[in-house]
Amino acid sequence: MRAASQAQPNIALVKYWGKRDAALNLPVVGSLSITLESLWTRTDVRFVPGQQGDRVSLNGRSDEAEAKRISKCLDLLRACAGVDYGAEVASRNNFPTAAGLASSASGFAALVHAGARALGLELSLAEQSVLARRCSGSAARSIFGGYVEWAHGKLADGTDSVARPLLDAEAWPLRVAVAITSTAAKQVGSTEGMRRTAETSPYQSAWIETQEADLGVARDAIRARDFDALARISEYSCLKMHALALAAQPGLLYWNGATVECMHRVRALRQQGVPVFFTVDAGPQLKAVCAPSAIEQVKAALRDVPGVLEVLDTGLGEGARAIALDW
Ligand code: PMV
Repeated sequence: MRAASQAQPNIALVKYWGKRDAALNLPVVGSLSITLESLWTRTDVRFVPGQQGDRVSLNGRSDEAEAKRISKCLDLLRACAGVDYGAEVASRNNFPTAAGLASSASGFAALVHAGARALGLELSLAEQSVLARRCSGSAARSIFGGYVEWAHGKLADGTDSVARPLLDAEAWPLRVAVAITSTAAKQVGSTEGMRRTAETSPYQSAWIETQEADLGVARDAIRARDFDALARISEYSCLKMHALALAAQPGLLYWNGATVECMHRVRALRQQGVPVFFTVDAGPQLKAVCAPSAIEQVKAALRDVPGVLEVLDTGLGEGARAIALDW
């Protein structure tokens, strides 16, 4: 009745933005990501027959809003197993939560992975990806490691809106420097941001129409290990997603000044021949993806930007997996 799992955040290179079904978390577009290595969520789940309700501890504290989302996720697992036991959940991140670093992706991937095992459910990774998606869209991708694509899917019940691995991390071991420019929780979460964008941004249809082509270019770049092609398509997708969100009413501006200055630094480095590109999600942190040989130079350049508080550094890692209970 007890299990512990680890999962890592992922960073989309071709972005997910917009839901075709908010209840099931079905996306309007497919997306493509890389799973990180040294940033992690570790989660211990224990089901207790006879216990009413769930007890949740996140980084050693209780958080009512997050506890509700976790209980909803546990409800999906309980429904699969046909039980109504309450659970004890203890989860820890080794990186700042809720600041555009996809803590919900690693968090729900680890929760589904541990919870399914604690209940003795023998779910395939694809089935786990579907469950994780229902809790937080991008969590579908953190079930897998390396380079991952999450399909838009066509079915109304969402059973085909699932992630799949494209290439292992070791097959193309890029590195990622994360420039932390603020540790404050973001003001507009991704669900509200996506809703506002879909309702008010005049670019929504163009975003949807152009996504398939972007996914094709990114898939080809990964297959060919073509860094320049991956750099071009990733910065394009990132800036296009932000242009879409900026054009909502009121406009969604997730960047601060340091985020923008980091973008200029990354482009300046690339002009000097350094293999690096940036991407930014619904928050102010900038992620710089680079060849392993460039990581020290990239970190030094980002650390030098006024307003950058810290620069984290990680490789690409595996998908969700079991860990010892005494982690
Ligand atoms: O999974 P959510 O609801 O946190 O949305 C993630 C949205 C982006 O991070 C901005 C893009 C992506 O594909 O991860």
